[in-house]
Amino acid sequence: MGRLEGKVAFITGAARGQGRSHAIRLAQEGADIIAIDICEDVAANPYKGATEEDLAETVRQVEALDRRIVATKADVRNFEQLKKAVDDGVAQLGKLDIVAANAGIAGTPHHSEDIPEEEWLDMIDINLTGVWRTVKAAIPHLKANKGGSIIITSSDAGLFAYANISHYVSAKHGLVGLMRTLALELAPDMIRVNSVHPTTVDTDMVQNETIYKLFRPDLENPTKEDFAAAATMMNALPIPWVEAVDISNGVLFFASDESRYITGVPLPIDAGAAVK
Ligand SMILES: NC(=O)c1ccc[n+]([C@@H]2O[C@H](COP(=O)([O-])OP(=O)(O)OC[C@H]3O[C@@H](n4cnc5c(N)ncnc54)[C@H](O)[C@@H]3O)[C@@H](O)[C@H]2O)c1
Repeated sequence: MGRLEGKVAFITGAARGQGRSHAIRLAQEGADIIAIDICEDVAANPYKGATEEDLAETVRQVEALDRRIVATKADVRNFEQLKKAVDDGVAQLGKLDIVAANAGIAGTPHHSEDIPEEEWLDMIDINLTGVWRTVKAAIPHLKANKGGSIIITSSDAGLFAYANISHYVSAKHGLVGLMRTLALELAPDMIRVNSVHPTTVDTDMVQNETIYKLFRPDLENPTKEDFAAAATMMNALPIPWVEAVDISNGVLFFASDESRYITGVPLPIDAGAAVK
């Protein structure tokens, strides 16, 4: 028996990166999947967005595991799109047990006083309010299910500060407040709420020129190797980054009954960055 046999999971940002990895890892353990992704470039984000082909590849990989998946193009800035996607998914798959609120952007680095107001608002709208909209759409289904598990993807930037990305740091800290409040509000319904806090993860969000320059302002044309050296300095374990599946394994633990009495916990998955 898989650790999630018979369960259904709703995952945002599932077209690529960690979201796709969560879909595959949870499906490997028996879950059916409701997946959404914007599948478009996001303004103010300096790297390429996911595509509809990326989401189709997630579908292909989940179906190859003999699990069902309902995938929809939807934006976490639009509550109606999210509600329709999760309602349709539940109508087809029967219920909802798990929510992985993972969609997010890195945005463009600036000193706080130089952040254009639209970029600040877009960051909060996607990385903080988008998670609230995701759980708002899902909670009625979790209550109807008489229990469930919500896992919110924050970041080490939700636990401490990084210069030049105060919009991102503020959104990710805000998620800890949202997670703790939801844990309190939803406990009587046997719905658990926890967050995961990754260090650098090897995905398109960080493997791009803007992030290389954020980490290596000392170099004119920093390479992946230059970035790796700086990223390694942040972690206690001598590695530059973790893989998406390392975060998926944390999500799987919170999704499974192995964590049945754990709620309100922010879990660093960060090669020891938080203890440095
Ligand atoms: N990569 C890292 O180093 C790192 C570290 C800590 C936390 N995180 C967080 O992990 C999560 C996943 O990021 P990733 O590393 O897989 O990056 P990624 O860019 O590969 O994946 C993010 C996904 O979210 C989707 N998305 C973005 N805006 C959306 C919107 N408005 N509506 C719906 N979908 C949207 C993208 O299309 C993409 O598929 C994010 O919340 C990110 O902040 C990433």
